[in-house]
Amino acid sequence: MGAGGPIRHDPCSNPQERPSFTMHTILERQQLSPNVTRLVLEAPRIAEIRQPGQFVIVHAARGAERIPLTIADADAKAGTISLVIQAVGKSTNDLVELGPGDAIADIAGPLGRPTELPDHGHAVCVGGGVGTAVILPIAQELHRRGVAVTSIIGGRSREWVILEPELAACGTVITCTDDGSYGRPGFVTQALADVLAPGDVDEVFAVGPVPMMRAVAEMTRPLGVQTTVSLNPVMVDGTGMCGGCRVTIDGATRYACVDGPEFDGHLVDFRELADRLSTYRPFEQAALERRACEIGLRTKPKADADSSTPAAGANA
Ligand code: FAD
Ligand code: FES
Ligand code: MG
Repeated sequence: MGAGGPIRHDPCSNPQERPSFTMHTILERQQLSPNVTRLVLEAPRIAEIRQPGQFVIVHAARGAERIPLTIADADAKAGTISLVIQAVGKSTNDLVELGPGDAIADIAGPLGRPTELPDHGHAVCVGGGVGTAVILPIAQELHRRGVAVTSIIGGRSREWVILEPELAACGTVITCTDDGSYGRPGFVTQALADVLAPGDVDEVFAVGPVPMMRAVAEMTRPLGVQTTVSLNPVMVDGTGMCGGCRVTIDGATRYACVDGPEFDGHLVDFRELADRLSTYRPFEQAALERRACEIGLRTKPKADADSSTPAAGANA
C-alpha cells in the first residue's frame, strides 16, 4: 500500500456515477402567521398530476430528515407547488428559513390517496391551525365541482388565522378565534354545531390537531354525517415500507402514507394516534435544542467571537 493510505472509490468523482438530483428552486416565500410560512417552488411533474389530499416527502438537503408536507396548492402551467409549513421543530424551522433562490434537494410525490369528493350537496371543511392548508385544495375542488362549501377555520387570535381569502373564493367562511379578537369567539367545533343544526350538511372534512378531529368525529357520529379526517402520524419513506405511519382504522392496521392519509373519522383510533405521535418527543426536543445551539454559535456577536480568539486579544 502506498504512503497515501487506502484508495477509496468515491462515486461522486465520476460524473457518470453521480446520483442525479433535480433541485427544486424556491420562487416565493410568504409569512402567513407568526409560525406558518408559504413556499412556492418549482416541481413541474408534481404540479401537473397532484390531486387534493396528496402530499410530498421533502428532503431539504443531504443529511436532513425526510418530512411529509401537504401540497397546499399547485399551478400546472407555471410548474409550481405551494407548501404551507408550520415551524414546530428542527426540519420545519430549517425549511422556513429558506427563501427565493434557495433550493430543496429532493421532493418525492405526489403521495397518498387523493380525497374522495362528492359532486353535489353541501360540504363543510373544518381546518384547525396548519390543517387549514390541507383543507384548501379540498375546498377548491369541491367548489369547482359545484358543491356548496362552508369552511370553518380557527386560530388563537387574528394573526394566527391563515388562508381566509383563498377559502372565501370557494364559498362561505366562518372564522373563529380563541380570544375573540377576530370573527366568532370560541372553537371551530362550536361553530360546526351551529352549521350542522339545520340538518342540510352532507359531508364534513376535518383537518387539524388530533383532539379537534376527534371532537368533530364525535359530533357528526350521532347525526350520521360522513366525516373524513386527514391523519398525521410520523412518516419516513412514504411508500408503505417502513411501517412508521401505521394507524388503526376500524380495528385493522393501515399505513397512512399509502392507504390514507384520509380516513373515515368515525373509524379512527385517535387515542393510539395521539400516543404514537408523542413517542419521539425527547429526540425531537434534543434536535431542536442542538439546532438552537448551532444557530447561536453562527450568529454570535462579533465582539464575543473575537474575544474568544486568543490571537485577537493578544495583539489588540
Ligand atoms: P419535530 O420536532 O421533529 O417533530 C414535531 C412533531 O411533528 C412530532 O411530535 C410529530 O408529531 C411530528 N413529526 C415529526 N416528524 C415527523 C415525520 N417524519 N412525519 C410526520 N410527522 C412528524 N405540517 C405542516 O406544517 N404543513 C403541512 O402541510 C403538513 N402536512 C402533513 C401531511 C402529512 C400526510 C403528515 C403525516 C404530516 C404533515 N405535516 C404538515 C406535519 C409535519 O410533517 C411535521 O410537523 C414535521 O415533520 C415536523 O418536523 P420537525 O423536525 O420540524 O419537528
Ligand atoms: Fe413508511 Fe408509511 S411512512 S410505511
Ligand atoms: Mg424532526
